[in-house]
Amino acid sequence: MGRVIAIANQKGGVGKTTTAVNLGASLAVAEQRTLVIDCDPQANTTSALGFLKDPARRTLYQSLILQEPLDRIVLRTQVDGLDIIPSDKNLVGASVELVSMENREYRLKALLQQLRERYSYILIDSPPALDLLTLNALAASDSVLVPIQCEYLALEGVSELLDTLMRLRRTINPSLAIEGILLTMYDDRTTLSKQVAADLRSFFGTQVFESVIPRNVRLAEAPSHGKPVLFYDIHSKGAESYIQLAKEVIANAQKRVGQGTERPDTRARVATTAAAASAAAAGSSGGSEGGNSGGTGTGSASE
Ligand SMILES: Nc1ncnc2c1ncn2[C@@H]1O[C@H](COP(=O)(O)OP(=O)(O)OP(=O)(O)O)[C@@H](O)[C@H]1O
Ligand SMILES: [Mg+2]
Repeated sequence: MGRVIAIANQKGGVGKTTTAVNLGASLAVAEQRTLVIDCDPQANTTSALGFLKDPARRTLYQSLILQEPLDRIVLRTQVDGLDIIPSDKNLVGASVELVSMENREYRLKALLQQLRERYSYILIDSPPALDLLTLNALAASDSVLVPIQCEYLALEGVSELLDTLMRLRRTINPSLAIEGILLTMYDDRTTLSKQVAADLRSFFGTQVFESVIPRNVRLAEAPSHGKPVLFYDIHSKGAESYIQLAKEVIANAQKRVGQGTERPDTRARVATTAAAASAAAAGSSGGSEGGNSGGTGTGSASE
């Protein structure tokens, strides 16, 4: 059974889509059959994987709302071993139409049962909102991967997000694990990036992926060529970083199989670290404004 990983963060522009596309391609290249589900009406994952706008193409909308089986919607991409469930702007309507439907949060989960056996990994790219599309993604997933841009107040954002995830665990998906927090758009020339990364690691420890995604122009260019970065510039830092991330995701899955379970202390640790981060963020938000001091207000400057 494939592992279903939602890529989620309510904040826009943090690298969710870039991660869905490039982690997906890197997993496929590592011979893990992978499906990417574009659950965002912006359809950026769909276009980044080379599918131009086409009103005749069936998308996730037909499955979610009209109950067409997902295997009639799934398409092969140019990457061997990587498939996609595409999206388009009609999906905006889905988040409204779902409101009055039965089991409105669990429709994607039910649809996915038909496909899970065929893949090692299923990645779901979600929109920058906590709407019914994102709730469907989180209800259908085993875990959530949270991309965080290395910027001022990142810690505050991530603690809010983890609070939300804790609430979702009590309601729609009690077994939702944290796959990992991923630092994106990291710029090692700036003190701020380094400080944000240090703060996130000191609060969230091993929940932060060791792999870090650098700010890299090739990652930003590749989507306009309809290709994952691996097929656009394999030697770029961006391509290397996503290959590294795929290795880490695979190694973590193997560790879990070795232990026979999820890491047992995951839930307790998330609750504790979310509470600690909230407290730290609350403490820092009363401090000086401006944000140019290079620190993120959590007081762990080590130099
Ligand atoms: N590591 C990176 N280096 C340089 N540019 C990047 C990087 N990651 C993402 N970008 C660029 O930043 C922009 C936002 O990234 P992306 O679309 O992946 O974010 P998102 O979280 O999916 O956004 P949204 O919330 O709108 O769906 C895009 O133009 C993308 O090409
Ligand atoms: Mg996106």
